[in-house]
Amino acid sequence: APAPPAEKEDPFEQELRKANEEMIRENYAQALRSFNTLTTDYAHEPLAHLGRARVLELLSKKERSNQRLWEAIDAYKRYLAFGNLVKSDQEFTSAGESCIENLRFLGYHRQATTIHDLLIERLPEDPRLRNQLSLTHLMVNNLQQVEKVAEETLKLWPTNAVAQLHYGLALRQLHGDYVKALPYLRYAVESQEEGTQEAFFYLSLGETLQRLSKKSEALEVYRKGVTKGFFASLYQRSLYNEPSLKAQPFWQPKETGYERQLDRLQLHWRAIRDEAVALLGESGFFQDEAEQLRDKGVWQQYELYAQGRRVKDNCRRTPITCGLLQEFPESSGCRRGQVKFSVMQATTHVWPHCGPTNCRLRAHLTLVAPEPEKTSLRVAEQERTWREGELFIFDDSFEHEVWHNGSQPRLVLILDMWHPQLTPAQRRSLSPI
Ligand code: LMR
Ligand code: MN
Repeated sequence: APAPPAEKEDPFEQELRKANEEMIRENYAQALRSFNTLTTDYAHEPLAHLGRARVLELLSKKERSNQRLWEAIDAYKRYLAFGNLVKSDQEFTSAGESCIENLRFLGYHRQATTIHDLLIERLPEDPRLRNQLSLTHLMVNNLQQVEKVAEETLKLWPTNAVAQLHYGLALRQLHGDYVKALPYLRYAVESQEEGTQEAFFYLSLGETLQRLSKKSEALEVYRKGVTKGFFASLYQRSLYNEPSLKAQPFWQPKETGYERQLDRLQLHWRAIRDEAVALLGESGFFQDEAEQLRDKGVWQQYELYAQGRRVKDNCRRTPITCGLLQEFPESSGCRRGQVKFSVMQATTHVWPHCGPTNCRLRAHLTLVAPEPEKTSLRVAEQERTWREGELFIFDDSFEHEVWHNGSQPRLVLILDMWHPQLTPAQRRSLSPI
């Protein structure tokens, strides 16, 4: 019997299939030419624009070109503009999600929200799309919007774990309402649902528990975080880490390789102290700690170097200190740290917290400390105090906590230093923190 007549493929379908095959074969240059032709000859066909967007995106990765990535974003937008002419919801949202991911990557979170809105408008019954929107807001710490979106999502889907997580984070960060935040964070992290399993969320839950004096429950959360590979260890919970760097709570100067530079600073501690004390006498130079780490008290800082850059106006007032620090580029040039004076008034308590990265070590050169027995720094499970003219080094990626139960201010010079095991190439290329 004769074979049934093959259905005739229309010319657009045929060209589209060819272009897609070129893309699959990773012949991107040729595929792009084909899609360029298709989008000209068949400008009304959504799939021509989608294909072009996909190739441009692949090319941008291969060429590591942001220019190309913008072209991809534009192509995605053209496709998305077809709206209901695109039949497949799945294809539409997946294109929108790619576009959002690219905009997030380039740091254009505000622009991404317009794509989110488009997706939510099309599929108002899908909580995932709303959670993606609040995540975009979360990424740029736009907590008001996180709260608003998550609250709306919870009205429609009260048990949605990701919405609970985002809402809990907003309550904690925006309003400092740890009591109200806790059940949301706990429920979400324990749900193990997609979108809830990240180091930052475990850290947020653990810190919330610690501030509510639920110590053993906090340790459980951290232990689980270690098991999941989120934290280097129970006490070392920085989020921006380089692998396999030596890690211990306290370091001896000779272990760092910076002994000579540290000795020199220590030798001049009185001159450094005098510059800092003079500034303390005037108001407005020291700034309040702004990271909500204080339980109670007054804790202020005066920055000399930040992310490896000299804070010019401040250094001008402390020429001796900054002059000494210029000679210690492993510290003043450390782009994952700061150098600053830190003054703590009596009756201060700093909550347990971890620094952001394992790439630095933190030295304290003690300048004013009249009551060593009334102050204390705990790092992991070790405690010590400040003594004038002394210097100690700790790794602030380990959990630490500070008490000042005396009656006189305590003043130190804090110097971050590149972790000695980081190579020159790493020190050059690591992103600033
Ligand atoms: C910290 O790094 O959190 C504290 O040790 C700073 C300070 O001033 O004691
Ligand atoms: Mn700290």
